[in-house]
Formats: sequence, C-alpha cells, structure tokens
Amino acid sequence: MSEPAKAPEISSRTLAEDDPVPGVKNVLLVMSGKGGVGKSTVAANLALALARRGYRVGLLDADMYGPSVPTMFGITGQPVTDGKKIQPLARFGIKLMSIGFLLDDPKSAIVWRGPMLHGALVQFLQDVSWGELDFLLLDLPPGTGDVALTLSQRLRSNGALIVTTPQEVALMDVYKSVSMCEKVGIPITGVVENESYFLCDGCDKRHELFGAGGGAKVAEMAGAPLLAQLPLDPSVREWGDAGTPVVQASPGSAIAKAFVELADRLVERIEADNAGAGDGLVIDRSGGVNRRLPISR
Ligand SMILES: Nc1ncnc2c1ncn2[C@@H]1O[C@H](COP(=O)(O)OP(=O)(O)OP(=O)(O)O)[C@@H](O)[C@H]1O
Ligand SMILES: [Mg+2]
Ligand SMILES: [Zn+2]
Repeated sequence: MSEPAKAPEISSRTLAEDDPVPGVKNVLLVMSGKGGVGKSTVAANLALALARRGYRVGLLDADMYGPSVPTMFGITGQPVTDGKKIQPLARFGIKLMSIGFLLDDPKSAIVWRGPMLHGALVQFLQDVSWGELDFLLLDLPPGTGDVALTLSQRLRSNGALIVTTPQEVALMDVYKSVSMCEKVGIPITGVVENESYFLCDGCDKRHELFGAGGGAKVAEMAGAPLLAQLPLDPSVREWGDAGTPVVQASPGSAIAKAFVELADRLVERIEADNAGAGDGLVIDRSGGVNRRLPISR
C-alpha cells in the first residue's frame, strides 16, 4: 500500500495540557471484559482499514502479558532510540509499538507488578515518538481493572470501542468493562460485535452459530451505537497467524469490506463526538441503534 499524498481532514479530541500524545488527534481504546473475543483482531484490522481511507494511524499493543501485534503484523525488529524518544516500528503504513518488540523472546512472560505495568504503558504513550497521527488505537488486554484506570488518569482518549461476541452467556464480563469505563470517566464510543454470523459455501444465509443479540444488548446498556457486526471467517485467523491482517492481505474480501465499513462508521461517530465535545452535546447518528434521542448531553 503506498502512502497517500494527503490525509483526509479529521477533527481532534480535546487535549489536556499535559497530554502524553499531543500530536495524536484521536485515541481509541479497544477493549472488552472478556478474553478471546477479537480485540486484537479488531484493533489491527481497523487500523489498516483507517489507513486505507488515507488516515495516519498508530497501534499501541497495551497487552503486556500477551502481546499480539508482533504476530499479527509479522514483525520482530528492535525499535531504536535517540536517548529521548523511542521510534515505533512501521508495517503496512501503521506505526506500531509492543512490549514484544523489546523482549528477546517475545513469547517469554514478564511478571509485572502493578506500578511497572502502569509505568510501561505510560512510557509507551509519552516516550514513543508517535508524531502526528489521526488515530492511535490501543489494543487492551482482557479484563477491566488496572489498564483502563491508568489510562483514564493519564490520557483524555476519545473513548472505548467495546468488543463483544453475540452469545448471551458471554455478556456479563463485557457489561463489567462498560461499568468500569463509566466509573473512571471513559466514554463508550461504540460497540463491535465480532463473530456475529458465518457465511457457508452452500447458501447465502447468515448462520448465527453463537446466538444473536449480544452486540445490541451491550450497545443499549452502554448507550452507544453498535458500529459493526463482523462475520466469523476462517481467513481472519489464518491471515492473523501469518502476519498480515486480512484487510491488508485480501482487501477485496467481504470481511475486509466489513472492517472498512466499521472504520467509516467510527469516523462518523468520532466527528459527531468531537463536534459536540465543547458544550457537552452529543449527536447520535446511529440511526436508532442507540435507542435514545439523537442529541443528548
Ligand atoms: N471474525 C473472526 N473470524 C475468525 N476468527 C477470528 C475472528 N475474530 C478473531 N478471530 C480469531 O480468534 C482468536 C482470538 O482473537 P484475538 O486474539 O483478536 O482476541 P483477543 O480478544 O484480543 O484475545 P485476548 O483476550 O487474548 O487478548 C484469534 O485466533 C483470531 O484470529
Ligand atoms: Mg488481544
Ligand atoms: Zn449455509
């Protein structure tokens, strides 16, 4: 993918005076209380989908225990430093940082104590030379606790993208992460339902393998739009394991298009949020997915 000549215009979040990433217009936390729902997959493919639209994008792997970015992007190089800032690595036009880049053996586990984890994450924000970006996506570890709290204290992000799967039994953990965000003042930007359905070779029905309705329920609980329902597609895992996310490897595929649609809806939502940020007005363009009045405070 060649670098586009000029990035499309996008508005910015409100920066704090001591913002750790002042050159970054928009920061999104990709999270879920539940493990294995596709946070890293969504973060990686959404990053590439935004880049395909011409935006300048970075991806910070905030999972210190189980980094995914080195595998998904097929990259292991050592970042360099000038003694002041660490240069992120770059792949497919995305700036990348992961604890996996700093370990001799990316699969070796680090036993982090709370303050170290906090410190490493803050360093990944303020000591990495992210430069000017339209979007920085943070791929968060599963669970609700420390990481969201640390981030809320240090960074005014646009908000969280909550990833869920459709099945009812999985929702409790996802609800907990929504409550956690509310508690620490992180807005919910939107909900992504992953592995929503499967398209088989034999017919054009959407086979709902894991039940239905989880994404809509989480969206309703969070008061945020359901931005996408992404299909279960074996190529997502195959390409992820092979080190080239499917949006990059197979941009014409239905699944890649679903990620680009997610990117478009996210951009719309961000623009609306940023426009409303000044006076606390939020314009909801979700078309009713949200089940609330289109303008709210
Ligand atoms: N839509 C999809 N279709 C097929 N496979 C998928 C899809 N989304 C994710 N996967 C696969 O499911 C597995 C888990 O995904 P991923 O690592 O993105 O989840 P995660 O929520 O980041 O997990 P963790 O909680 O461990 O960080 C991976 O093997 C990934 O390739
Ligand atoms: Mg992950
Ligand atoms: Zn079928």
